[in-house]
Amino acid sequence: MEEMRKHIVRISRIIQFSIWFCMAIFGIVTVLGFVLAFYPYQERNLAELNTRIVDNANLLPIDLIHMFLKNSHIRLQICFAGICISLMALTVFFLIYELRKIFRNTIKSQTPFTHETCEALKKLSVKALLLVVFSTLAGIIVFLLLRLFAYIFEYGTFLQEKAEETNHIQEEMIMSFAEVVENKSEQTGKHVRRVAEYSRIIALGMGIDEERAERLRLASTMHDIGKLLINDEILEKPARLTDEEFDEIKKHPGYGGKLLKNVEGDVMRMAKTVALEHHERPDGRGYPNGKSAEDISIEGQIVAVSDVYDALTSRRSYKQAWDPQVAYEEIIKGKGTQFGDAVVNAFIRVYPQINAVREQMQG
Ligand SMILES: [Fe+2]
Ligand SMILES: [Fe+2]
Repeated sequence: MEEMRKHIVRISRIIQFSIWFCMAIFGIVTVLGFVLAFYPYQERNLAELNTRIVDNANLLPIDLIHMFLKNSHIRLQICFAGICISLMALTVFFLIYELRKIFRNTIKSQTPFTHETCEALKKLSVKALLLVVFSTLAGIIVFLLLRLFAYIFEYGTFLQEKAEETNHIQEEMIMSFAEVVENKSEQTGKHVRRVAEYSRIIALGMGIDEERAERLRLASTMHDIGKLLINDEILEKPARLTDEEFDEIKKHPGYGGKLLKNVEGDVMRMAKTVALEHHERPDGRGYPNGKSAEDISIEGQIVAVSDVYDALTSRRSYKQAWDPQVAYEEIIKGKGTQFGDAVVNAFIRVYPQINAVREQMQG
């Protein structure tokens, strides 16, 4: 949907440029029409102008006026023709001006397909019927075109609402999953939500676009989903783990990857990557696959930093919460070995925001 929105905005910009161009043209035609109507012609030029403009231009579809003009003075005929040209150009100018306002709102809006846009296009199509006065065919064509646009936007609005509904359901499902994992593991409180927020902040700090950062915020909530398959006794053990138990815990990224193996959609695919890679390290000493720096996705590296920072600053059954400043320095110490260089650099840059979120989301 986001891609479609960008596409629409891009098209709208082109349309807006064309609209400016057309407004300029019809503005000039309006002025030329008045010049034609009121220019002080010399008598010998009038007859020639009359033949060229009035008889051939087909600018006066109102037959009665045309018939009236046929029998009137040449100067009057030209004057009427000029005024008609001006009025027609002026009508088109204002129709285009209204259209410009609609497209300007579309560009500004985060959701280009809105009921307001549909209604505005429908109203404009009715105003376009004014053109019938000057040219029946032009009026009907413009009316139908604007109606067609309005229906396309109406259908777009319907699809957009459905997509938003689906996204909302997907987000709710992801958060529910995350809560299940959170309740199962020893990570009580708001670990999952804090990791999600930290990940989003770091992603933005790295220059990742808003849309991908938001996707990461959601995807990161499932980083420990593999713990669903780990024995409760190990997860809930109120003491330090033995080596065997820790080896069992180390399987959770692999389990997470398997659980999400066949998922569809950008967020869920990213969730799979994050679940698999959030314990990998650039120096190759991570788990489950001991991947090297260049093989770990940027999302996996970001969640690794968020997860460790939050684990350090949170109280667990076997340890006290670390002082945030000490935890911050610990992350910096891990730069290039435990954590990716670029991610740690971004973490340092956005640390005030991360610290503020940590303070807000205590407990
Ligand atoms: Fe984990
Ligand atoms: Fe975690």
